[in-house]
Amino acid sequence: MIREAIVTTQDRAGAVHVAPIGLIEEGEHLVIAPFRPSRTLDNLRENPFAVANYTDDVRVFAGCLTGRRAWSTRPATKVAGAVLDGALAHAELSVVGVAEDAVRPRFRCAVVHEATHAPFRGFNRAQAAVVEAAILVSRLHMLPFDRIERETAYLKIAIDKTAGPREREAWDWLIEKIAAHRAAAQAGPGA
Ligand SMILES: Cc1cc2nc3c(=O)[nH]c(=O)nc-3n(C[C@H](O)[C@H](O)[C@H](O)COP(=O)(O)O)c2cc1C
Repeated sequence: MIREAIVTTQDRAGAVHVAPIGLIEEGEHLVIAPFRPSRTLDNLRENPFAVANYTDDVRVFAGCLTGRRAWSTRPATKVAGAVLDGALAHAELSVVGVAEDAVRPRFRCAVVHEATHAPFRGFNRAQAAVVEAAILVSRLHMLPFDRIERETAYLKIAIDKTAGPREREAWDWLIEKIAAHRAAAQAGPGA
């Protein structure tokens, strides 16, 4: 079971980094598996704490993938970490073990504090579509154009039928990024 969350980490100096990360449930622990290289990975080595922020504001997922990382946070309660303002709930995590790996080290975390801030108001297909499109954007460099086109065309059905303003804004950021990637690739190297 993987939960798509917004993970906040901090470097030694306390600078906050916000990134969408899939948290792997393993019994009572949550595993963060950042690819190398990444800021999340560097931060977890400098400061072995994180906050799992559970949010239905999918602009944060799309924003982090499109250069919009300035999401406001407040200090966590029990760890040296940051809670995303607007999270419906959050879990404060402490790293209890690291499995080293050449591609994707795994940080096993204990949940040391949890809090709920707002109710879950049900599933929304457009939110799921934005999360899927954000995953596509995170893999643009390795996916063929026809696959990206086919999958975004399918995901757009849920956007058109069920999105609210936040989902539409998030979707537009991702589509812009896909278009820019395609234009740059078609212009070719040196253009
Ligand atoms: C829903 C979702 C889940 C993701 N899960 C992971 C993950 O488990 N590990 C990872 O390294 N990147 C993951 N990514 C990609 C990161 O969010 C993105 O590459 C990010 O910039 C990580 O690098 P950073 O820590 O340097 O910001 C995910 C992206 C999305 C949209």
